[in-house]
Parts: sequence; C-alpha cells; structure tokens
Amino acid sequence: MSEQQSIHGIWTKRWTFVLAATGSAVGLGNIWKFPYMAGENGGGAFVLIYLFFIFAIGIPVMLAEILLGRRGRASPINSMHTLANEAKATPFWGGIGWLGALAGLFILSFYSVVAGWAVSYVYLMASGTFEGQNAEMISGEFGNLVSDPGKLVDWHTLFMAMTVVVVANGIHKGLEMAVQWLMPLLFVMLLLLLGYSATLDSFSDSLSFMFRVDFGKLTEEAILSALGHSFFTLSLGMGAIMAYGAYMSRQQNLASTVVTVGLLDTLVALVAGIVIFSIVFANGLEPGAGPSLMFQTLPIAFSQMPGGVVLGTMFFVLVVAAAWSSAISLAEPAVAWAVETLGMNRGVAALIVGVTAWVLGVACALSLNIWSDVKIFDNSIFDFFDKLTTNIMLPLGGLLICVFVAWVMDRAIVRSEVDIDHPSIYKAWFFLVRFVAPVGVAVVMFNKLME
Ligand code: PHE
Ligand code: NA
Repeated sequence: MSEQQSIHGIWTKRWTFVLAATGSAVGLGNIWKFPYMAGENGGGAFVLIYLFFIFAIGIPVMLAEILLGRRGRASPINSMHTLANEAKATPFWGGIGWLGALAGLFILSFYSVVAGWAVSYVYLMASGTFEGQNAEMISGEFGNLVSDPGKLVDWHTLFMAMTVVVVANGIHKGLEMAVQWLMPLLFVMLLLLLGYSATLDSFSDSLSFMFRVDFGKLTEEAILSALGHSFFTLSLGMGAIMAYGAYMSRQQNLASTVVTVGLLDTLVALVAGIVIFSIVFANGLEPGAGPSLMFQTLPIAFSQMPGGVVLGTMFFVLVVAAAWSSAISLAEPAVAWAVETLGMNRGVAALIVGVTAWVLGVACALSLNIWSDVKIFDNSIFDFFDKLTTNIMLPLGGLLICVFVAWVMDRAIVRSEVDIDHPSIYKAWFFLVRFVAPVGVAVVMFNKLME
C-alpha cells in the first residue's frame, strides 16, 4: 500500500524513528543540564517534580506532537498550516511552527557552545592534560576554557560545522549509524561510571541528594525549571519531534515508541545525575556549581581510574555524538521549511540556519567572558537564550500543541491517528493532553510570572 510521503523521504526501517527520536532526546540535556539543574535546585524535590512532569505531561505531549507531524507530513510550519485548514481553524496555528523553528535556532546557538566544550574535553582528555592533577586543578581547567573567547569560538565553530554537514546531507544517512552504535555505547560508558561511583563512600550521599524529597527547598523558579526541562530533554514544544514524525511510517505504533524514548531519556539523566553527585561529594565540590558541573566532575573520576585517559576520551567523544544527533534535530524544522516553501537547496538552507545560530552562539560564548557585563532582563546572553527557550518558548509550544490536538482537531481523526488499542489508555492520554498538560503548564508559568 502506498502512502503519502514528505518530500524529505521516509525512515527506511521500523527502528529508525525510535533511534532518531532517541538521538534527538538524549543529549546534553541529560548529561550536562539535568545534573546541574538538580544541583542548583537542591536535589530530591526537583527530581521528583521533574519525573512527574515527564510522565504526566512530557510523554503525552510527545505523542500529540508526533501525531501532528505524521498527519501533516511536512515541516512543522507547513504541517500546522495543513492541519489548521483541515480543522477549519485559523491559520494562526501555523504560529506553533514558527515559534518552534525560532526556538530551535535559539537553542542551537547556546547548545553548540556547550557541545564545543565537550569537543574540547575530548582533546584535553586525549592529550593527558588531567594526568597527575588533583581534583582542584582538574576543575580549574574549566575556568581556563571558559575565560578564553578564542577557544570557545573555535570549538563552537567546529561543532556547528559538523551539524551543518549532516543536516545538509539529509538527516537520514549519518543519523542511523551514529545513533545505532554510539548511543548504546554511551549508555555502557555511563553504566561503567555508575559502577565506579558505587565504589565511592559518597555514593549513598549522592542517592539521598537525588531522591530524598524535601519540598521545603522547592521554589516557584525550581518548578518552572523542572517543567521547562522536561520539554527540553524530550525535545518537545519546538517541532523537532514533529518534523521527525513527518518521516514516520503509518504502520508504526506511536504509543510504545513514545514510552520507549521517554524511559530511555529519563534513565540516562538519572544515571548521569547519580554519577556526577557521587563525584561531587567525594571531592568536596559544590552541587550547585551550575553549568560547569559535568565538566569539573567527570574528568576527576577518569583521572582516578585505570585506563582513564582512553575511557575519558571515549566518553567525551560519545557525549559529542549525543549532542550532535540532538543539534541536527534542532536545525531540522527551519531547514525543512526553507526547502519546502522557498524551494531552497538543502545545503544552502542548512548553511543559512547554521550561520545564524553560529552568530547567536558567538554572542553566548562571549557573554561568558568579555561580554559578561551585558545583561538582558538581568541575565547574561547565554542564560537569556537558555531561559527564554527552556522556561517560556518550549512550554508555550507544548501548551499550544495540546490545545490544538485536544480542542481543535477533529476527535475522530485524533482517535484514529494515535491508534491506541486499549480504550482506557486512550482516554487517559486524551485527558492528560486535554486538561492536565495545558492547565499544568499554564499554572506553572502564570505562578512564576506573578511571583
Ligand atoms: N533533547 C535534547 C537534549 O536533551 C535537546 C533538544 C531540545 C533537542 C529541543 C531538540 C529539541 O539534549
Ligand atoms: Na534529553
């Protein structure tokens, strides 16, 4: 049976969508961002709220977002136009696509800077820089990197170029290999690190930091961050997953796919957190150190391990790979739109998106040193792009997606597209998308605003 395809092609194998979505989801958000956010927000209570948002909001929204892509069969902007037409709703709904493409560009800018740090750590590891250094010296290396605008921009440029090359060639080719082999390897390395952490006396401190819940520590800010991060980590609310859904075959079961991706993503984040906090407590470091956390802790662990130079190098290579497969999906909504609507060559579109995000990224990089005095609404440029996207644009995108799917679209179409066999599971999902997710997002955002 032939089915309508997107002009960008269709995933070749059944597995590919799961792999691609996992590749998009698992990235710096899990290994770099989740641990430092948990650390900044006092641990346990933040982790619990985050898990709640993943299951009550994130996973249901992911299903809704893929559904839109699979039915729209085009870039998010055009898919939303088509579906708004089909539902006889205002073309205003295309705004979900525009908001998302813009969010992708903004995220890509600071994401590439951080991925650049990971690339530079491959080099630092491989060249044996950390050998014979104590914990203090190792964590000091991060400061050397971040205070050097030239280095930051060079590594950022390298990573952005890598991203543009893959997007220009069509996401299918490079991605399948990368995700199929490198992701499982990353996971094995994390388990290895977990084994190492379990040998440290601080392992139990780490577990209680991550899982002992003290709601007294929970601020409005922390709740909003947990919500925003649940979208960020699952790549939701900006069209990445919608764009990938457009290349997904009709035969594939959505619900089981979504649950698989959500669980894998969560597992990686939790393991990364446990490992990192074990190292934090073993070496008297600060859990609330912020964005430097992963880069100051993991090299300490590798420096204490036999074969640490090789293992550490491998680990950072895999982190770069994970970041790479996420970065590709950040660019895809804008690039797919330019190809479809402007008839642009894919390579040219990828280059334009890459250069734009690169320029913004340079501003983010410089805001960590020579432009540290520049403030936008009290935030550095780097933090501004991070918070604007994570705390506002993604949750807002997710909210609009829920409203569109559960309030605007034809109920029968939604029902047949999700194809969840079990009626009560379908009802539960629909309830989450119709009420729980939109109300949850609205309340959390409103509360923070009114603070
Ligand atoms: N989910 C990715 C991560 O956790 C980041 C990302 C966000 C990718 C939004 C695509 C879209 O690293
Ligand atoms: Na993630």
